[in-house]
Amino acid sequence: MSLDLQVRNGLKAAALWLPLPPASKTGIFYDLYGEFLAVLSGDSGFRNIGLAAGGSSLAEAQAELCRETVRGLARPGRWLDIGCGEGGAACTLAVENPSVEICGLDLHDESVERARQLAGRHRVADRVHFRSGDACRMPFAGDGLFDGAYAVETACHYHDKRGFAAEVARVLEPGGRFACADFVLSGEDRMRPERAVIQWIQQSLGLPRMYTAEQWRGNLENAGFRELRVSDITAGTFACLPLWSERMDETRAELERRYPAPLVLSIYLNIRWLIEGLDAGQLRYALIEAELQPDPAGDSSPAGSQ
Ligand SMILES: C[S@@+](CC[C@H](N)C(=O)[O-])C[C@H]1O[C@@H](n2cnc3c(N)ncnc32)[C@H](O)[C@@H]1O
Repeated sequence: MSLDLQVRNGLKAAALWLPLPPASKTGIFYDLYGEFLAVLSGDSGFRNIGLAAGGSSLAEAQAELCRETVRGLARPGRWLDIGCGEGGAACTLAVENPSVEICGLDLHDESVERARQLAGRHRVADRVHFRSGDACRMPFAGDGLFDGAYAVETACHYHDKRGFAAEVARVLEPGGRFACADFVLSGEDRMRPERAVIQWIQQSLGLPRMYTAEQWRGNLENAGFRELRVSDITAGTFACLPLWSERMDETRAELERRYPAPLVLSIYLNIRWLIEGLDAGQLRYALIEAELQPDPAGDSSPAGSQ
């Protein structure tokens, strides 16, 4: 039984190296690691790194990152949670903000299904809804549907970051606010040897090339956003890594049951790389906030492709 699981997970890990469409790779990645992340984070429904808020549990730190991300969004309001995962952010924020309605969007169907169940358990299913779909080609026919949109630790997965920014601009009301919390590269120097390590890790995680904060700034400005504010929250997020290490140690037996030994090693190396990447200053974590122009790009839809 456990051998079957190991073989299946080993094959999925190998598939991440194949030249498959990006959306399929993300699906495989969350099929592969989604359940393990659930083992680590418990049934809180959060899948982000967290923001340390003084002696908190991992789930509390993860909730704190979401609270910090939406601090500038309008209340009351209709919010879009982009890359909502298993719904921890949408459900927790809906409980804490009774005047908001939230629509969660995620590419991974199983996560969306779990998010719906979580909304039932939090008793917010009347105000929180979830949809399957790609953030770079959102499944919303109408424009200007939301007063605010946020994306917690998901945009690093997106291969079409320009398409994503255009889609956020399309579905936001003019003047609506967007906030994105994510890993960013610290600079553009791709010749340094550590960059090869970064590229290897990105490949093994099925991630495309990450943006720097400056690249995000340009991307959002091109899509019609203004008043951009970039806050470096690296210290607070990476302070949560010991909480992850603790949970990894506590769940080691489960990890070894699920994954072949080389993959377990690679998961540990990925966590170590995160810590070393931070220490070497290659990797940062940013909160990027922006407002959509009151009249975005005149009457031509920035999404174009929709
Ligand atoms: C690290 S998890 C973060 C989940 C959630 N935001 C949280 O804070 O717990 C990243 C999520 O982004 C989703 N995702 C990745 N690429 C996507 C895309 N192109 N469109 C929509 N969701 C995507 C994944 O399926 C996954 O659920």
